[in-house]
Amino acid sequence: MSTAALLAALARVQDPEIRRPITELDMVRSATVSDGVATIELKLTIVGCPAAATIEREVRAAASAVEGVVRVDLDVGVMTVSEREALTTRLRGSRTQQFGPDSLTRVYAISSGKGGVGKSTVTANLAVALAARGLKVGLVDADVFGFSIPGILGIAGAKPTQVGEMILPPIAHGVKVISIGMFVDGQAAVSWRGPLLHRTIQQFLTDVWFGDLDVLLVDLPPGTGDIAISLGQLLPQAEVLVVTTPQPAAAEVAERSGLVARQTGQTVIGVIENMTGLPQPDGSVLELFGSGGGDELAGRLGVPVLARIPLSVALRAGGDVGTPIVLTDAADPAARAIESLAATLGSRARGLAGRSLPLDVR
Ligand SMILES: Nc1ncnc2c1ncn2[C@@H]1O[C@H](COP(=O)(O)OP(=O)(O)OP(=O)(O)O)[C@@H](O)[C@H]1O
Ligand SMILES: [Mg+2]
Repeated sequence: MSTAALLAALARVQDPEIRRPITELDMVRSATVSDGVATIELKLTIVGCPAAATIEREVRAAASAVEGVVRVDLDVGVMTVSEREALTTRLRGSRTQQFGPDSLTRVYAISSGKGGVGKSTVTANLAVALAARGLKVGLVDADVFGFSIPGILGIAGAKPTQVGEMILPPIAHGVKVISIGMFVDGQAAVSWRGPLLHRTIQQFLTDVWFGDLDVLLVDLPPGTGDIAISLGQLLPQAEVLVVTTPQPAAAEVAERSGLVARQTGQTVIGVIENMTGLPQPDGSVLELFGSGGGDELAGRLGVPVLARIPLSVALRAGGDVGTPIVLTDAADPAARAIESLAATLGSRARGLAGRSLPLDVR
């Protein structure tokens, strides 16, 4: 009776990195209650697993809360290599491509023609806003040369955890994040050619274990280079959002990145106009970068403008210190614009539109 209650309590403890109950991960080898003593044998995935202390604490708390338990005897060990491999194989299932055609995860790639238009800032804040709405969100920083996502999300220096051949992404503000910045030392320059870039992006999408996501955002480097083309091949189902500034001249450059996405089979679903005017204290708006660029680009691509994000000192400053303003300054006009974009995209999460259903219709 109390042993069953103990198992039920342990099933509520999750591995903070894999985000599954420890009982499903074969971490609980035995758990019994007799004479008020709960005896638990726990196997962690790796030595010095960063989550170990958390798991141990939560297991103790869960066991102590079981009725009739007065003492907890906890034996913590480590899985053998073959146990760990069995676990990673099971977690992955037979899928080698997490975001293959059978996946229900919505994939949004954020691209632009020019650099510096705010892709990474907008993508990071959008990811956090989607996660805050309760969605399971992953973010791939595909800007291998100019990675900036870890800094914007305040996890510069964070390293993924390796379990067997599987890489567990660090989690920032509820978002699972992977970036080449987590694999190179300090500010080391990455100067790779096409094939290596392709393989890196491929590994991000296969060896990094995101689990079951509602939304995957991919922050692209600017322009129409190797990475954009690789990504089009690896994620043909991705829907593309093109970011541009209000400057009409920028629309032409931005159009090209939309066209390349289409050539690789991706669908462009909308334009994000960023740096749309700077609200002044007197209520007027200073159009620093002119106006009309978003509409111009949307017209050329035949898609809607999904968001207009004003210039915002708070948005920029939040990115500099790693605290996204959608969490810290929700009233800021830029945060509000990103929040409403999250509402638009979030409501179409896990849609089946355009997908072939695995049904045998005769
Ligand atoms: N709406 C905004 N208001 C004020 N500053 C912004 C805004 N959007 C982005 N920025 C700032 O502009 C700079 C460039 O932004 P970001 O790095 O996000 O652009 P990017 O398109 O990802 O650039 P790259 O092409 O180099 O990857 C950053 O300093 C960022 O903080
Ligand atoms: Mg960027």
